[in-house]
Amino acid sequence: MGTHMRALILLVGGLFASLVFAKPTADLDSITRGEISERLAPVGFVCLAGEECASAAGVVASSSSGPRSGDAIYNQFCVACHGSGLLGAPKKDDAAAWQAAEKTAGGFSSLLSNAINGIRSMPAKGTCMDCSDEEISIAIEHMSGLKP
Ligand code: HEC
Repeated sequence: MGTHMRALILLVGGLFASLVFAKPTADLDSITRGEISERLAPVGFVCLAGEECASAAGVVASSSSGPRSGDAIYNQFCVACHGSGLLGAPKKDDAAAWQAAEKTAGGFSSLLSNAINGIRSMPAKGTCMDCSDEEISIAIEHMSGLKP
């Protein structure tokens, strides 16, 4: 939790408490600690919700280390076209189609750069814009059986 967020909670909590205690007709003895913390609880919730929003927006850096697996990348990004052969994409595990594509491209490294830059109906990086070149290569190996 950042300093700002903590300061915000103190601020909002302080406002809340002063509202409760400043109420002239309130019988302070009847307000138990439990009731006060109950009233403050939604403030804590706001903070948690804020933190969830922050991580959902990608503000909190992912703690992943090293490249994702070919399987994970394929299933998230490539399967949409390479699973069914959509738009003429070489299908997963269709060794003949992949070997033909590699031959046409002029080798694995050209095939890889075509995938990174995009070629005809194949979008750049297969829409995995945060994929490293290495991850694209791993995903190609996974679905084609080709070796770099
Ligand atoms: C929107 C559909 C689509 C997605 C998503 C997609 N591809 Fe493709 N891909 C294609 C199509 C279509 C081709 C065939 C292009 C052609 O030869 O005309 C292709 C071809 C390729 C080729 C061969 C390139 C060549 O030189 O012939 C590679 C390698 C490849 N894709 C990798 C990937 C990877 C890796 C992913 C996922 C990270 C991915 N693709 C996601 C549509 C897609």
